[in-house]
Amino acid sequence: MTTTPEFDPHARFEGESYQDILDRDSREVPECLRAEKAPYLGSDSVPATHYTSQERSDLEAEHMWMRVWQMACRVEEIPNVGDHLVYDIIDKSVLIVRSAPDRIQAYYNTCLHRGRKLATQAGHKSEFRCPFHGFTWELNGDFRSCPTPWDYQHLNKEDLQLPELKVGTWGGFIFINFDKDAPELMDVVGPLDWHFKDWHLEDRYIHYHVAKVLPCNWKVAAEAFMESQHAPTTHPQIQTHVTDVNSQYDVFSDYVTRQISAGAEPSPLMDRDSVSEQRIVDDMLSRRYKMYKDVEGVPPGITARRYMAQSVRDNLQAHNGHDYDKCSDAEMLDSILYNLFPNFSVWGGMKPTRIYRWRPNGRDVDSSIMEVYQLDMVPRDGPRPQPSPMRVLSEDERWSDAEELGGLGVIADQDMGNLPYVQEGLKATGNNKVHFANYQDMRIRQHHIMIQRYIDEGLSS
Ligand code: FES
Ligand SMILES: [Fe+2]
Repeated sequence: MTTTPEFDPHARFEGESYQDILDRDSREVPECLRAEKAPYLGSDSVPATHYTSQERSDLEAEHMWMRVWQMACRVEEIPNVGDHLVYDIIDKSVLIVRSAPDRIQAYYNTCLHRGRKLATQAGHKSEFRCPFHGFTWELNGDFRSCPTPWDYQHLNKEDLQLPELKVGTWGGFIFINFDKDAPELMDVVGPLDWHFKDWHLEDRYIHYHVAKVLPCNWKVAAEAFMESQHAPTTHPQIQTHVTDVNSQYDVFSDYVTRQISAGAEPSPLMDRDSVSEQRIVDDMLSRRYKMYKDVEGVPPGITARRYMAQSVRDNLQAHNGHDYDKCSDAEMLDSILYNLFPNFSVWGGMKPTRIYRWRPNGRDVDSSIMEVYQLDMVPRDGPRPQPSPMRVLSEDERWSDAEELGGLGVIADQDMGNLPYVQEGLKATGNNKVHFANYQDMRIRQHHIMIQRYIDEGLSS
């Protein structure tokens, strides 16, 4: 007689875990990498229409996007009084300005006369003068003047004060929130703050910033970066040196999730004896990441992980003057991806920090914008480099055409090879169900739980 194995909601890959790999680190591993929090979030499926229906997308727009903290830009992008930039989300536009040396404000980007956008691109201004009829505001949102004041005597100072959004900063990022009653940013950032306490986000600068419109819903794009079970199939070339099915997943709070895959370690799906330490190093070098350059053969008796971690320490120190000697192998090599709900992903560790941001492309449920940033440490002896401007890839350009991405371009193109067909497949569904894994898709489950929570709260209020 055969028996059905009992359902184990906490089932895990049975081989070596990420924590086991950390046990072999050459340094003390930071406490945050030892933290684990993997609640069972249920096994429900999600309707495919949550990715494809305009009605659902409109609910997200009204009840979620108008109430969540969103990373708008970096502090370094508006260093001087009068520096400003524009952040667009759905059909809203936000004007973010440094209005005083220690003050950043965000306005609805709409002239209070007849509604023209006050600004359409980043720049530097001493006042905001609408290009249509010349109504003018101070940087702090106070109304200054208009060409024919005798005709506007019915409007008082308050009528003409630029409406503001909530603004918060964390880690050198500027966040905005349309909801005046939203919790404070730091209450939402929560555990991220101590996780990043030694990773110096404020002391980094934008080394590159690349954006592209994708033919899929924003969640399809974002969720392709919330699990690594797709790696063996989608990115088979990294199996020798990035772990996958034993990646660790955590849900630390309603808003903060994480996944970690070890670097310079082969996938546990590979026959370990068939992957030499030299093969691991060679395959890593072939991926053209600048932080791996100038390394040679692996000396006998040293693991690829220790060898490559030291090469990254040496290369980064030679490049920026900071001392990485105490940093663990994990902080030098591993893919440590945090998400702050709903659309901001920041890599942990001490290597160059990668940032992902996903947004709907206007009201189009089938289109999204993905951006990739790399933040490098400001050199120890300064000066702070200028942040790189955003490069927008055209529809015909591949991510690998952006040479600044290095080896990431090929990986991103492989990811993008799936996404349009995910969107099309979701529309072609025969049962309107998307089935998630219990553990490996845990971050995606949490993502949908939170979106639903915002929609439910919005509908009931
Ligand atoms: S719309 Fe801006 S001044 Fe008229
Ligand atoms: Fe991928």
